[in-house]
Amino acid sequence: MSSVVVVGTQWGDEGKGRITDFLALKADVVVRYQGGNNAGHTVEVGDKRYKLHLIPSGILHPDKYSVIGNGVVIDPEALVSEIESLEQQGISVKNLLISDRAHLIMPYHKTLDEISEDEKGEDKIGTTRKGVGPAYMDKTVRVGIRVCDLLDKEIFEAKLEYNLKEKNRLLEKVYGVKGFKKQDILEPYLEYAEKLKGYVTDTSVFINEAAKQGKKLLFEGAQGTLLDIDLGTYPYVTSSHPISGGVCIGAGIGPTLIHKVVGVVKAYTTRVGKGPFPTELNDETGDFIREKGYEYGTTTGRPRRCGWLDTVIIRYAIRVSGLSTIAVTKLDTLGGLKKLKICTGYKYKDKIIKDFPASLKVLGECEPIYEEMDGWDEDISDIREYNKLPENARRYLERLSELCDIDISLISIGPKRSQGIVLNSIF
Ligand code: GDP
Ligand code: IMO
Ligand code: MG
Repeated sequence: MSSVVVVGTQWGDEGKGRITDFLALKADVVVRYQGGNNAGHTVEVGDKRYKLHLIPSGILHPDKYSVIGNGVVIDPEALVSEIESLEQQGISVKNLLISDRAHLIMPYHKTLDEISEDEKGEDKIGTTRKGVGPAYMDKTVRVGIRVCDLLDKEIFEAKLEYNLKEKNRLLEKVYGVKGFKKQDILEPYLEYAEKLKGYVTDTSVFINEAAKQGKKLLFEGAQGTLLDIDLGTYPYVTSSHPISGGVCIGAGIGPTLIHKVVGVVKAYTTRVGKGPFPTELNDETGDFIREKGYEYGTTTGRPRRCGWLDTVIIRYAIRVSGLSTIAVTKLDTLGGLKKLKICTGYKYKDKIIKDFPASLKVLGECEPIYEEMDGWDEDISDIREYNKLPENARRYLERLSELCDIDISLISIGPKRSQGIVLNSIF
């Protein structure tokens, strides 16, 4: 038995879906453990491109189980539409399992996400407006509605009524907008329940049983280390735990079931939404990376902010998730740049900071310390052997590995399943 966790080391969109899809070739069960349809994982198989939001990337392998764990927040409308869209593309979802303990995103969560962003004006977080934050809020204040509630009409109706009393008061009296009518939510939600009920089970039991039977488990993180509610650039974060610690809670397993944690490192840094970003490039190099790497959000289509690779961040991710190894993605995007920079530390006032700081004020005043390296011109997307990579590409990877004191197991040089170089096998 072995189990592997895939986590994003930066601000999301590192290529977790692409790496999960590759590792899933050897796994039996693929599990999402947090986040919701704020995630957008693009996976290319053959000449087809799939955009997954809630369903684990394992779904593209017909013989594997795909599990949506209890730590995920589920918008049933979005989930039903994702299932239908996959089926229309010829992908079977018969091996999908949904936790009965997962919390639901309700229509009022989406409205509250919109309003709270608009109210913040300049200080907005730049959320995906999918209702993820408000749904996790309700879970924490213990008024959330879970999948098991949705499957029991009486309980669901009672919980909906209770919530609407409070939510409508807030919407109407505080924000001055129209509240929700019970029936307008009840009817479509009961239809979603009919469509989803066949997939619902106690997924913690399923995952632990699979482990006992010696099955290989793969946990697919959404978002990234710096979007973690505790360890990220708070408050410019999401509302869940993308780091490896989130797996135990969000999948209902103990830490002793985790054997390896793979951090996905994009060969440069990107961020969607607001918040500090020390190595951001607001110049033509940033534009070059955005266009060549097609850095536009999978979920919202927003242009991603782009910048140099920051090893302060990668070392932080290694520490807080206990990474065993890393997978480097999108190395091909950097081809064509004459010079490349890697951030090795931050200069803050007259000090040098090596550990990622908590205070956004401090982070905002940090100046990245760079090492400059020569780039390469060649198109590397068809290379399949490490030694055939241009020397400067190898130097770049070796310097990353050295600065972070971690081995690289996988290098991705294109979005397709075949466009990878394996240095050490992960399963
Ligand atoms: P995720 O949210 O971490 O799964 O990442 P996204 O799917 O949001 O963003 C990564 C994007 O880069 C997707 O469009 C992938 O198809 C693409 N991608 C992944 N790995 C590579 C790579 O090595 N090279 C290139 N050119 N594209 C890649
Ligand atoms: P994947 O899984 C990148 C960002 C949003 C915003 C902040 C809070 O594709 O890597 P939220 O809607 O979660 O309340 O927004 O988090 N964000 C992501 N950024 N990739 C993601 O997911 C993200 N999910 C949320 O842009 O800054
Ligand atoms: Mg993404």
